[in-house]
Amino acid sequence: MDEYIVELEHVSKSFPGVLALDDVSFDLKSGEVLALLGENGAGKSTLMKILSGVYTKDSGIIKIFGQVVDSMNAKKAGELGIAIIHQELNLCSHLTVAQNIFLGREITGHGMLSSSKMNSEAKKILKSLNIDMEPEMIVGDLSVSKQQMVEIAKALSSNSKILIMDEPTSALTAKEIEDLFLIIKKLKKEGCGIVYISHRLEELEHIVDRVTILRDGQYINSMNFKETSLPEIISFMVGRNIKEKFPRITCKKGKKILEVRKLNAGPMVRDINLDLYEGEIVGIAGLMGAGRTETTRAIFGIDAKESGDIILDGKTVKIEKPMDAISQGIVLVPEDRKKDGLCTKLSIRDNIALPNLDIICQKAGIINSKIEREMANKAVSDLKIKLPDIEVNAGSLSGGNQQKVVVGKWLRRKSRVVIFDEPTRGIDVAAKVEIYNLMNDLKEQGIGVLFVSSELPEVIGISDRIIVMCDGKITGELKTEEATQDIILQYATRFDKKIDKDVQYK
Ligand SMILES: Nc1ncnc2c1ncn2[C@@H]1O[C@H](COP(=O)(O)OP(=O)(O)OP(=O)(O)O)[C@@H](O)[C@H]1O
Ligand SMILES: [Mg+2]
Repeated sequence: MDEYIVELEHVSKSFPGVLALDDVSFDLKSGEVLALLGENGAGKSTLMKILSGVYTKDSGIIKIFGQVVDSMNAKKAGELGIAIIHQELNLCSHLTVAQNIFLGREITGHGMLSSSKMNSEAKKILKSLNIDMEPEMIVGDLSVSKQQMVEIAKALSSNSKILIMDEPTSALTAKEIEDLFLIIKKLKKEGCGIVYISHRLEELEHIVDRVTILRDGQYINSMNFKETSLPEIISFMVGRNIKEKFPRITCKKGKKILEVRKLNAGPMVRDINLDLYEGEIVGIAGLMGAGRTETTRAIFGIDAKESGDIILDGKTVKIEKPMDAISQGIVLVPEDRKKDGLCTKLSIRDNIALPNLDIICQKAGIINSKIEREMANKAVSDLKIKLPDIEVNAGSLSGGNQQKVVVGKWLRRKSRVVIFDEPTRGIDVAAKVEIYNLMNDLKEQGIGVLFVSSELPEVIGISDRIIVMCDGKITGELKTEEATQDIILQYATRFDKKIDKDVQYK
């Protein structure tokens, strides 16, 4: 059974200014699920990109099924049965689900693309994964969680023997995660070796056999999951013990900052009323698709409002576009950092400067590069963003560090309300605590914080008050003391009865 299907020996890789992997060795057996763990920027994605031929190593040996592979590339990796589900969604948003699944290995008939065959094959794959989706749908129209399921379907459709999942569950609903775990169990039985990268450590116990830990580009150790514990894993990951997972501070509740009155914006934002006071963090909980992101987008002026008022510090404000919100003092850290939060081809300095040009520009409209650099450097040090310098492209940072840049953009503004939409997605345990502390700092400064999150323990752990949404409406409000996961879930599933109970369909 101890058959090694992957052996990486003494692999090193550097990028300009960063030694991403320093003499790392790694192995994977058939039929096992191996969790590859480490803080943001530890080198997990880089190591797996080398294994799957996306990056070339600087030195070291790659052995697949015991054979040395000299020059690995993506095509060769595919032929060897290596498939990777990338951390950042990698789909062509203008193509259909089926076209994405078969990208690069399209099914043809009579020398032409066979859409009908690809659609019917895709349908089979989706069905076997329990994914409710039509193959003809355009990927760009799907939610982030559905897009992630397409990525998974794409990787699984190629009958791979070595499957790498880089943060596959970060955008999935609880039900989708369960379905994915069933698939993993099935693949394991068939002898597939799976590398599983996740910052959601609590889910590991359901599937993981072994863990390998990286820190700062170096191999730390490997352990059988049964013989270790989460606190031990975390201390190996971060090199120290983390005292408090959810640091909570109490502040005096001050004046009302924000009032949202009878806000309507499309089917997922129906009659939303909410208040936010100085000195509090208000959590917005709900299932995926409950309308939480849509509500934040409507408040921030991305989506048009049909009706309703936004009242800031007692005055009704007109917010028709994001710039109106920003200049009034309402800012948003969006859910999809790659699409909405960052310009990945621009430097960290530019990304942080962009929404702050009013602060950085001098009278004649000339950028004051000293302030610009200071602003970026301060964000980097406040949030402990790991990067060689502020001139590198945002796209070159590790996933979690990208997320910190999105948050870092707003630190210098005198905002009144900061809305965080899933801010800890893909962020490691230590960095999560940094983000919570940052929210606490804002709260202490009298800034109102709205905190959308799908992870109930953190909503309960950090918020002072919790609003629960279901199907575009607010279905409940709870004080933190009375909130439990069960109660929140009850409110989160309070769907309106849309079908008359007397009508029988049987
Ligand atoms: N294409 C690239 N260009 C420059 N630097 C890069 C590139 N890809 C990764 N790096 C750097 O290599 C280091 C390791 O990054 P990697 O993405 O492997 O981390 P990770 O462990 O996957 O982190 P996370 O948990 O945040 O996803 C980081 O310092 C990152 O900035
Ligand atoms: Mg990564």
